[in-house]
Amino acid sequence: MNLKDKYKDYFDGKTYNITTFGCQMNEHDSERISYILESLGYKKIQDRNKADFILFNTCLVRENAELKLYGQVSSLKKLKKENPDKIIAVSGCMMQTSTARQVIIDKHKEVDIIFGTKNINSLADLIFRYLETNERVIDISTDNVKDDFVYYNTPNDFQAYVNIMTGCDNFCSYCIVPESRGREESRRPSSILDEVENLVSRGYKEVTLLGQNVNSYGNRADFDMTFPALLEKISHIEGLKRLRFTTSHPKDLSDELIDVIKNNDNICNYFHLPLQSGSSKVLKDMNRKYDQEKYLERALKLREEIPSIAISTDIIVGYPTETEEDFQETLKVCEKVKYDSAYTFKFSPRPKTRAAKLKTIDDAIVQDRFDRLLDTIYPIFNKKNEEYIGRTVEVLLESESKNNPQILTGRTDTFKLVHVKADKKLIGQFVKVKITDNTSFTISGDLI
Ligand code: 5AD
Ligand code: SF4
Repeated sequence: MNLKDKYKDYFDGKTYNITTFGCQMNEHDSERISYILESLGYKKIQDRNKADFILFNTCLVRENAELKLYGQVSSLKKLKKENPDKIIAVSGCMMQTSTARQVIIDKHKEVDIIFGTKNINSLADLIFRYLETNERVIDISTDNVKDDFVYYNTPNDFQAYVNIMTGCDNFCSYCIVPESRGREESRRPSSILDEVENLVSRGYKEVTLLGQNVNSYGNRADFDMTFPALLEKISHIEGLKRLRFTTSHPKDLSDELIDVIKNNDNICNYFHLPLQSGSSKVLKDMNRKYDQEKYLERALKLREEIPSIAISTDIIVGYPTETEEDFQETLKVCEKVKYDSAYTFKFSPRPKTRAAKLKTIDDAIVQDRFDRLLDTIYPIFNKKNEEYIGRTVEVLLESESKNNPQILTGRTDTFKLVHVKADKKLIGQFVKVKITDNTSFTISGDLI
């Protein structure tokens, strides 16, 4: 009898819970994991402590995600002792990296299954192996797998994420991703196109293409396709209403890509363009391969060619070589680009990165710069959102608002978060909303 048959009844009534840390790529990996668990017979539940299969899908990009994981896993020690049948698993970037993995192996005996970002497809076998032996199972592979076609659960029945490439070859001095996710590898165009066509034929309206560095798609691949060409091809799939992508590196933002966004209505007018620092000196230290001038030229070109475009960014404050003057350059770029939103981070030394060897800046100085950065950018976001007042925008309604079920939230093509009073039957539909109000982070209005 094969193991699948042997454990056929084991999963009856069993539940699972996944806690995901980190980026969109990890969220998407969790969607793939959840599909595998549901195929076995597990049902999803919200209450982590009640679940029979508890998984943490981990992130290593900043230290706080790492520390949070250790805390949360430790809190399950007692639970596992009282209910030894529960299965506790840890996956993701932390497990892909030897130092962090060793902490879980040595100090967290309550963890039963450990697997890496490249072993998701073997999860069912890992669970069977654990059930057979009742001993800890570890599966970490460093080889890139060609995930040409994988099944996954989507967040709802109108939005989906599609991987187009994995890994990163940029080696920014502070970043652990090249270590945890490995070298860049692009998925075959035909496989991506098949997947998006399939999603659209099943009624999906919005697709987001995912990769650490989507605009280097196709580099060094054995096929001939650039990111702008791929994006344009996908945008021509009939019935696809909205096409998004993330993340892009400023050094690879070509005029061709700007033209493709400009000329295809269903490619959203939203661009995430990570700045990291506004100082050319710090950018050089970070190995970002662009300087302030080049960045500003690219960002302003986006605004000039596509006036309605919204631009967001990532900023790191307190990189070890950042002086007050360098920090002022970051503020200057924010004023010039007038970002619509930003993800802001304090520098966090990560193991095995070049920047981890440098002497860090005093916490109080970093905190002060961080506060001043927010004081500069929040009013800019507010002003950007204020420009929407009086306009009528098309919104894809996504969910009920957390605080008030009568209010629905959705997004514009420019990724603005919209609050509007509407019947929840409209979730998954495009509606027109006249904007009447705003904050730095949301716009709101009435259905028309
Ligand atoms: N410290 C702080 N922020 C970091 N990021 C990546 N590595 C670090 C680090 N060591 C930020 C960058 C990146 C985003 C995903 O996380 O801004 O764009
Ligand atoms: Fe990290 Fe730089 Fe690659 Fe982004 S481009 S994943 S910051 S190494």
